[in-house]
Amino acid sequence: MTPLLSVENLTVTYARNDAERMAVDSISFAIEPGEIVALVGESGSGKTATGLAIMGILSANARVGPGSAIRFEGRDLLATPERELRDIRGRRISMVFQEPAAALNPVMCVGDQVAEVALVHGERDKRAARTKAIEMLGRVGLPDADERYRAYPHELSGGMRQRVMLAIALLLRPALVIADEPTSALDVTVQAQVLALLLDLQREAQTAVLLITHDLGVVAETCARALVMREGRIVESASVDDLFHAPAHEYTRELLAAMPRIVRPA
Ligand SMILES: Nc1ncnc2c1ncn2[C@@H]1O[C@H](COP(=O)(O)OP(=O)(O)OP(=O)(O)O)[C@@H](O)[C@H]1O
Ligand SMILES: [Mg+2]
Repeated sequence: MTPLLSVENLTVTYARNDAERMAVDSISFAIEPGEIVALVGESGSGKTATGLAIMGILSANARVGPGSAIRFEGRDLLATPERELRDIRGRRISMVFQEPAAALNPVMCVGDQVAEVALVHGERDKRAARTKAIEMLGRVGLPDADERYRAYPHELSGGMRQRVMLAIALLLRPALVIADEPTSALDVTVQAQVLALLLDLQREAQTAVLLITHDLGVVAETCARALVMREGRIVESASVDDLFHAPAHEYTRELLAAMPRIVRPA
């Protein structure tokens, strides 16, 4: 089977104060259709940079190194013109960010922000886009979705905002969702709800998910396979069972040891 996504020798550097700093250092991995893969690692290890590179939305001071390739649904995204990438983003690949308040437009009602995804991707009928948005907001568990459609982000709780982000990310049933710490800004009970919701929708639409997290408890509960990053490199790529029971890399053992609270799979 051809993987849905294959990342080959991806390198990302950031320019800062005239120096180039390596954030992602020739990593390679693949994701199959419908698969959930965790990307774990300590702060600064390059997880978000990897996600942003796949989405093609790295900041202006970032460079993707020569020799890097990101293949998705048969095309090399790094060689794809921005105009086409804009069509792919939101429709075939989407990203959920850690801080929904920062990712949402503060002066646009949340419903319109969901409907906009449909409009940008070819829906001509505003009313149809609105209906689709309300339906999706309901699906992601926003209570009274038709009334909350008109709410502004600041009028919603953090958990509700993250549900809105999920509605935006999942509206067009993309083949791949990059979820970057999608629950870490939420309190624990809401975290579990939002994660369960993401997985429900994932199962239903057979969406592949790259789940970026530093919570190994979340990994144990949701993923079959994990990639462990450290200082820009993938130091371990293993099934979650192997990762927890027989971690091959010293760093993975350290990560596990640093998380005494986790519930390990039996
Ligand atoms: N816009 C930027 N400009 C300069 N350096 C950056 C920028 N964004 C990230 N970096 C650097 O790139 C490296 C990787 O950052 P990245 O955000 O990918 O880490 P991360 O694994 O997502 O960490 P966290 O768990 O804290 O989110 C870090 O050293 C970071 O300081
Ligand atoms: Mg990050």
